[in-house]
Amino acid sequence: MAVCFHKSSMEFHLYNQNISYILNVLENGQIGHTYFGKKLRDRESFAHMLNFRARPMSVCPFEGKLEFSMEHIKQEYPVYGSGDMRYPALEILQENGSRISEFLYKGHSIYQGKPELSGLPATYVEKEEEADTLELYLEDQVSGTEITLYYTIFANVPAVARSAKITQKGDQEIVLDRAMSMSVDLPDMDFEMIELTGAWARERSVKERKLEHGVQAVYSLRGCSSHNYNPFLALKREETTEGNGEVYGFSLVYSGNFLAQADVDTYDTTRVTMGIHPDTFSWNLRPGETFQTPEAVMVYSDHGLNGMSQAYHTLYRSRLARGFWRDRERPVLINNWEATYFDFDEDKILEIVKTAKELGVELFVLDDGWFGKRNDDTSSLGDWYPNLEKLPDGITGVARRVEEMGLKFGLWFEPEMTNKESRLYREHPDWILSVPGRKVSVGRNQYVLDFSREEVVNAIFEQMKKVLTEAPISYIKWDMNRSMSEVYSAGAGAKDQGKVMHKYILGVYRLYDMLTKEFPEILFESCASGGARFDPGLLYYAPQCWTSDDTDAVERCKIQYGTSFVYPVSSMGAHVSAVPNHQLLRNTSLETRANVAYFGTFGYELDPNRLTEEEKEEVKAQIAFMKQYRHLIQYGTFYRLLSPFEGNETAWMVVSEDKTRAIVGYYKVLQSVNGPYKKVRLQGLDPDRKYHVTGMEPGKYEEDLYGDELLWYGLNVSDASSGENKEKYNGKNGDYQSRLYLLSSIE
Ligand code: GLA
Repeated sequence: MAVCFHKSSMEFHLYNQNISYILNVLENGQIGHTYFGKKLRDRESFAHMLNFRARPMSVCPFEGKLEFSMEHIKQEYPVYGSGDMRYPALEILQENGSRISEFLYKGHSIYQGKPELSGLPATYVEKEEEADTLELYLEDQVSGTEITLYYTIFANVPAVARSAKITQKGDQEIVLDRAMSMSVDLPDMDFEMIELTGAWARERSVKERKLEHGVQAVYSLRGCSSHNYNPFLALKREETTEGNGEVYGFSLVYSGNFLAQADVDTYDTTRVTMGIHPDTFSWNLRPGETFQTPEAVMVYSDHGLNGMSQAYHTLYRSRLARGFWRDRERPVLINNWEATYFDFDEDKILEIVKTAKELGVELFVLDDGWFGKRNDDTSSLGDWYPNLEKLPDGITGVARRVEEMGLKFGLWFEPEMTNKESRLYREHPDWILSVPGRKVSVGRNQYVLDFSREEVVNAIFEQMKKVLTEAPISYIKWDMNRSMSEVYSAGAGAKDQGKVMHKYILGVYRLYDMLTKEFPEILFESCASGGARFDPGLLYYAPQCWTSDDTDAVERCKIQYGTSFVYPVSSMGAHVSAVPNHQLLRNTSLETRANVAYFGTFGYELDPNRLTEEEKEEVKAQIAFMKQYRHLIQYGTFYRLLSPFEGNETAWMVVSEDKTRAIVGYYKVLQSVNGPYKKVRLQGLDPDRKYHVTGMEPGKYEEDLYGDELLWYGLNVSDASSGENKEKYNGKNGDYQSRLYLLSSIE
């Protein structure tokens, strides 16, 4: 890995074993982009790749030099003005009303390691030799504004992390109307764009579309990264599959409003831009002030979509997530939400805990409804003290009892919200986001606290700290259950209202930071009506996230499959719930529900006292299985094999680092009869090893197979669906089947 500066050509080449990223200082002093992709050997100049051509009707900075036009030059951090006609990365409004700027190269530095981003989540290194960083310094002489562009290349991941810092060195006040985290111009448009889209209960569906001229984008204007679009896009070649071919991934380490777009010009150049959404952002910078953008992480893989995802998994699991729980196996938990909803008291909780303990559960999580006067969703958010009618000895009492019974205790909070029916709101009606004199919209009966204000964040911190100090609490589920509207802060002047959305997210990060510093051993799980804030920003503070409120096994195949495009198995909250499923009323077997939930941070979301004795035995075996294999599942290499978005089946697998062990999950929505012979080609195995392959029930399905056979021929997943099923395959033929195959090397 290195960052090379070639002085004679004024080019920079960042590379590791797999990728190269090359940029150059253009003749006019702006920064041009040369190449991003598979590793190239280094050389003094790559200028021949730039292919400057004179084009009629171009606007040019130099008279008589038609071939040098910013409109046609690939760039790194483009601005409007000086001839580029595409969407810029940066727009600054100056005191004279002009938005024209011209940022010219002033210098650079190259060093080992990676700097922190002040107040923002970002990938990091533990040792300096894990990454090299290039800082490029640019200046707009007229406004006196300076930019530092950060590029970090990692030694062992095919990824480049980028961000920008803008400092107003001049003596006028400027306004940043757009300050994106990254921009890159790829030289063609032969891509399919992948986005992760959805809605509540169907988060992160994989959607593909062919790039066309014009802008194609995903975004959020909801104040959170959203159920609807994840802050991610990928550009893949038409022929790229899960296992083969080229793909570029772009992921934003941010939890608020974002824009991720591919802007294809009519010369077939694709400009990818990613960052805070400019429509709800305007940030005035007074002389001496600085603005730091969030980080964007770009990945290049020529090993298909799995190669891209594995790069994100490695980086986000080990160099974005932090703290005590980062590398630890996650506890098997039971959450009372779907078991009781708001209707519980201490006795009911302890009954659940007693049975859960017998089944092998390690952590009990008390969900919504334990505080203030909360018996439904109309009141008490913001009043983080226990409801003594339900819990006579408070949280401290119930938590101690749960610990005495042998489980750890976890608690639900929704720190960013309040209800009008609450002590907090009565005392501080101006603490919600709302515009004086205008109606304020309500969502789930609640209002959004103004986390752009320090005093609001501090007040919530103090309340939470009191609960967490008094009671033995090992886990927090941090929820967030509405989109933001009427965003306006009573704590900011007119000129600063454009800062509120971003400052809100900084407030969320600050509260997370204070809590994780004060209580470093608490495991945080983020949540936002399920997975509305499943984003890299929150993974920095909370190493796991509730993937979706939809716990149906069939739907979860899609949700977890899509989520795995960017996020590691160790981050995906996945629970077995009761049937008929509470979201869809579908009945699936307990076995299938667990076979899906194993590929996450496993747990239960049901009342164990309503299970039959036979079901309890099954649950005991499931928990024992998960405890035995969770390290492999949560920290192994994950491969997607068959997509639920393309057919009736889903398959995925995890492989241990040394390739000696693997688990394959295979799921089928509808059973078919007398169908074709079926096999699934596996990935990631050692072709020269022999593996002993078993289904979950030893003896029912066992074979010794070589890695090469499993890789190139495939694993036989045919079942007894010839029409004469009766006793065959677990005796459980029918719809919503699933199977786990365990592979262990025998040589
Ligand atoms: C959200 C969460 C659920 C649950 C409820 C409680 O919907 O996603 O898991 O915690 O809130 O109100």
